[in-house]
Amino acid sequence: MANDRLDIVIFGATGFTGSQAVKVAAQLSKEKQFKFGVAGRRKEALEGVVKEFASDIENVPIIIADLKDEVSLKKMTEQAKVVVNCCGPYRYYGEPVVKACVSTRTHHVDVSGEPEYMETIQLKYDKEAKEAGIFIVSACGFDSIPCDLGVVFTQNKFDGEVNTIETYLKCWTTAKIDSAFLHYATYESAVYGVANYNKLRELRTKLFPERLPALQPKLKKRSFFHKSLYGWATLFLGSDRSVALRTQRFLYEKYNQRPIQLQTYVTFKSFFSMLLTIFFGAVFVTLAMFECGRNLLLKYPSFFTGGYVSHEGPSKNVRENTHFSIKFEAKGWTEKLADPTGKHEKPPNKLIITEVSGVDPGYGATSTMLLLSAVMILKESDKFPENGGVLSPGAAFGKTSLIEELNKKDIKFKVISQIDW
Ligand SMILES: NC(=O)c1ccc[n+]([C@@H]2O[C@H](COP(=O)([O-])OP(=O)(O)OC[C@H]3O[C@@H](n4cnc5c(N)ncnc54)[C@H](OP(=O)(O)O)[C@@H]3O)[C@@H](O)[C@H]2O)c1
Repeated sequence: MANDRLDIVIFGATGFTGSQAVKVAAQLSKEKQFKFGVAGRRKEALEGVVKEFASDIENVPIIIADLKDEVSLKKMTEQAKVVVNCCGPYRYYGEPVVKACVSTRTHHVDVSGEPEYMETIQLKYDKEAKEAGIFIVSACGFDSIPCDLGVVFTQNKFDGEVNTIETYLKCWTTAKIDSAFLHYATYESAVYGVANYNKLRELRTKLFPERLPALQPKLKKRSFFHKSLYGWATLFLGSDRSVALRTQRFLYEKYNQRPIQLQTYVTFKSFFSMLLTIFFGAVFVTLAMFECGRNLLLKYPSFFTGGYVSHEGPSKNVRENTHFSIKFEAKGWTEKLADPTGKHEKPPNKLIITEVSGVDPGYGATSTMLLLSAVMILKESDKFPENGGVLSPGAAFGKTSLIEELNKKDIKFKVISQIDW
């Protein structure tokens, strides 16, 4: 890769997430010694973002690139070592950027939380990315670094063999609420994600023709909602589980490591708030399956989410006072078998609970995770398991110092408790 390239180019820097990524890049570039530029389709808006978020950086080049213009995308990607792509929904905007990165041998990270997009990219571009010697890593934001690397962290701390992990996500705010919590584009991505959910099965059959071994004892299915140690809980339908399971498959195929069985839950402060969310969720899923329903959802985001989503997105006050925590309950054995997929004689005899937590999950923490992911590619690619390819964050960064770096930025990974019996 030519040395005259910028280390990082942030594409979609004018967006809600992109502008936060510029803010984080401006802070991190001094600490980690990298040079970055910004890219997008509107010159004046890009100048505005640089002025607002990176005015203390001497020279931030501005690159004009439009998703509809392949030549402009290649001109952008050939000027970067790593493209940090903040243009979503990725199902519509992602692939042309990946394609340009492959053809100009440029690494690529993004904050997609769309399993169908991520798995399609893996199916179509893994081989080409390997041949080009570049890394394409999606899900480098709140979806799904805390969960995916949290699982890897928990496995590393277990000292034995993990059989199952159940995760419990909790988000809460201490702010006086003066805005929505989510920006429209994330909601839009979710609407189309639900609409295309049925395509996942066929895609996965192509991507993973071989099934993972059936492990014993099986992770028990819980009822639709249950009372957990952290409050009432129901299934979490985000991308965390699919991303973390891709990592587990990778670790099994690459290192013959026992793949954990995983389920993800979201918790609520009361039974009533859970029921209300389930109600909104059911309406959302039902409408998202039909075109006229999708049109309604997209036209009235605030109405269909009880004010949770808006075109303006969350205020600074709401962002900075919104907290998240994911607890990981891992069960397994104090001993490891020689055959990682073998059957243990005894039932599990060890439990460990870990946590990943922080503030401003959707935008501040997301941008920190995203930029640090790019930094890992720049500085620690010798610790990656391959020389290129389409990888999940856990597969790509599991052996780097990413968790340590996130801890320094107040995205905390810690062990809460452990019991052997
Ligand atoms: N995984 C996570 O935790 C997480 C967190 C936050 C966001 N996200 C995802 O990130 C994505 C972006 O979200 P957001 O809220 O930041 O969206 P946004 O504010 O709408 O930003 C979209 C960006 O795409 C650019 N864009 C659109 N069409 C373009 C084109 N033809 N050529 C060049 N650039 C174009 C926009 O440029 P203009 O300004 O010129 O329109 C803007 O910079 C979404 O998919 C969202 O789901 C994920």
